[in-house]
Amino acid sequence: MKLKILQILKNKQGYASGEQISRQLGVTRAAVWKTINSLREEGYSIEAVPNRGYRLTGKPDILSGEEIQIHLQQAGLDRFVDTIAFKRKTDSTNQMARLAKGQQPNQIGLFVAEQQTAGRGRRGRDWQSNHNEGLWFSLLIRPEQGLAAHFSRMPLFAGLCAAEVLNDLGVNTGVKWPNDLIAIASGRKLGGILTEMIIEDTDVRSLIIGIGINVTTKSFPENLRNLATSIFLESGRHFARIEILMAALHRFAKRFPTYGDFHWLADYRSNCLTLGREIKVLPAFGSPWTGRAIDLDDDGELLVEDANGVRHVVRSGDVSVRGLLGCEM
Ligand code: BTN
Repeated sequence: MKLKILQILKNKQGYASGEQISRQLGVTRAAVWKTINSLREEGYSIEAVPNRGYRLTGKPDILSGEEIQIHLQQAGLDRFVDTIAFKRKTDSTNQMARLAKGQQPNQIGLFVAEQQTAGRGRRGRDWQSNHNEGLWFSLLIRPEQGLAAHFSRMPLFAGLCAAEVLNDLGVNTGVKWPNDLIAIASGRKLGGILTEMIIEDTDVRSLIIGIGINVTTKSFPENLRNLATSIFLESGRHFARIEILMAALHRFAKRFPTYGDFHWLADYRSNCLTLGREIKVLPAFGSPWTGRAIDLDDDGELLVEDANGVRHVVRSGDVSVRGLLGCEM
């Protein structure tokens, strides 16, 4: 009922009377009143005027299952997403996705939370995910047969889509290989992506793409202060997280059908801040070493030339890039 009442209020130019709503939905006026109050508790400002009815005032930055459903429908993205799960608080949206069942091939599951208590970053790091400060979501994709083998490039694909969304919002953003989202003006990290595979009997069953974008954060704890930034800190503007989420899904839905031709790697290259720069490679095992990032190969792996002119293929691990804050060498 909450979803239906919200839809009525959103579609109405003026006031929707309690009587009208109760008739339309076949519920009592007391039930309508109760639902209006629970929407208010979620943060909606709803004006109630005797003899006229209810009216939504303003567009607060609210994330909820209902908001997501309404926006997906409005944007025509509902045919692309077959599962939606929203929680105000969860450990990690990647974990929500991992526990979900029944994904259809080429459909997407969407898992969103207002707050993560155990948000995960790459290489076993924590990801700070405070209430209301950012957009924390995961996509669950079950690949069609044949496509799974190419999923090693997905972290780059997701990085490209997310960077394009941030650029569309007017925040000049590049990608540090493989998929750190870096604000070009400050060199600080705006967001990150954690992709995980679910493997069953040696087959890739599903892929989880977890995206975290700092949206409204005004200050970071001491250890992140020089490394992290937010859309607000970069642009001074407030964007509703639901709009950013829809833009990301739209971008993903548009690009995904051509994932397999890998032409998008050319766009990735032109958004990649790592190429052509001095970098330090921090392998998961072994000692760090420095070199120049020359190019990406067709698998999205980084080609790095060391001081002796020898080329190496860097498949995973971290790289730090000279000149980007938080990525100092
Ligand atoms: C990184 O740069 O280290 C990756 C950060 C990924 C964070 C996102 S937030 C949504 C999803 N859930 C998680 O626990 N992590 C990812």
